[in-house]
Amino acid sequence: HSFTLRPRVPRPRAACRVIVAQAGGGYKVAILGAAGGVGQPLSLLAKMSPLVSALHLYDIAADVEGVAADLSHCNTPARVSGFTGEDELAGCLSGADVVVVAAGVPRKPGMTREDDRFGANAGVVRELVAAVADHAPPGALVHVISDPVDSTVPVAAEVLKHKGAYDPRRLLGVTALDVVRANAFVAARKGLPLADVDVPVVGGHAAATILPLLSKARPKAAFTDDEVEELTARVRDAGAGGSATLSMAYAAARFLEASLRGLDGHGDVYECAYVQSQVVPELPFFACRVRLGRDGVEEVMGSELRALTDYEARALEALKPTLKASIDKGVAYVQQHQ
Ligand code: NAD
Ligand code: LMR
Repeated sequence: HSFTLRPRVPRPRAACRVIVAQAGGGYKVAILGAAGGVGQPLSLLAKMSPLVSALHLYDIAADVEGVAADLSHCNTPARVSGFTGEDELAGCLSGADVVVVAAGVPRKPGMTREDDRFGANAGVVRELVAAVADHAPPGALVHVISDPVDSTVPVAAEVLKHKGAYDPRRLLGVTALDVVRANAFVAARKGLPLADVDVPVVGGHAAATILPLLSKARPKAAFTDDEVEELTARVRDAGAGGSATLSMAYAAARFLEASLRGLDGHGDVYECAYVQSQVVPELPFFACRVRLGRDGVEEVMGSELRALTDYEARALEALKPTLKASIDKGVAYVQQHQ
């Protein structure tokens, strides 16, 4: 397979906007946690997408009504509605094509992604995904941003299974920020044009589980051992100074746009995402390249894991126990809270 080297979010052409507006077509996107540091800029970027016709913004914080009113004044086609409080969650989810879960507690400096907020965020994801099973259409795609993604995606899967609503093709953990960061850091280090750089990032989304595959970067570049160490550490630790919001919103919007292009029947939509797979047999969830289409994840690629360098192969082995423990923790959480 050849991967597209174009920037993944092409600038919409004016003609395309007009068609969407006239046809009243496009997709309904629900953003949960829309009043937050990630949720607000993500909502703005989603409002700018020509593929979005309706934007439903939900948060427990009543501020979300103001965010929705503010965004509704932007003269792009998507109709924006705000929803707050549990009573309004069903209305927010009704008819959604894609539900983005960005609710929860962010990391403060000094915290790890994995442990410090697990209880709080696992509870939020459990509650919101249960509502998705009850109120969103069966075909809705669910994008999970809330950390720790390595565990919250298994939490979401278990909740959906208990509700008889689990389709692995439609549950995606958002690791797009790791790809965005790897692309930016590699382009800067190697003096490459940013728009051309594409680095697959596999594993999970914790300091110990993120693995950028620099040997598979496009365009091909030579890295010294020191550069590999330095760039890998930089991508892994990039959130350590406190949680990202703007770059995360950018990454989530790019990933949302890719999902919508997939739903819309565009061919060749490839992104990295943390999904259920058998690419690494002992890890039921793993981030790698997937092909996005009308049914969500239509193919888990995993071909980027072939012919790894010694460094990458060792790093992959080393991350397995940590990632497995995080997956098991998510599954156990739901079993304990049934
Ligand atoms: P934030 O605190 O600024 O916003 C979170 C929002 O969620 C708040 O508006 C809050 O009211 C809302 N919320 C909390 N519980 C809720 C519930 N039960 N229902 C609805 N809304 C609820 O945090 P943030 O900086 O926007 O980060 C959001 C999440 O995204 C965090 O878990 C953070 O760690 C995670 N994150 C993930 C990545 C990634 O790469 N996957 C990157 C950045 C942030
Ligand atoms: C990030 O990578 O910035 C996010 O996952 C937030 C965090 O806590 O690191």
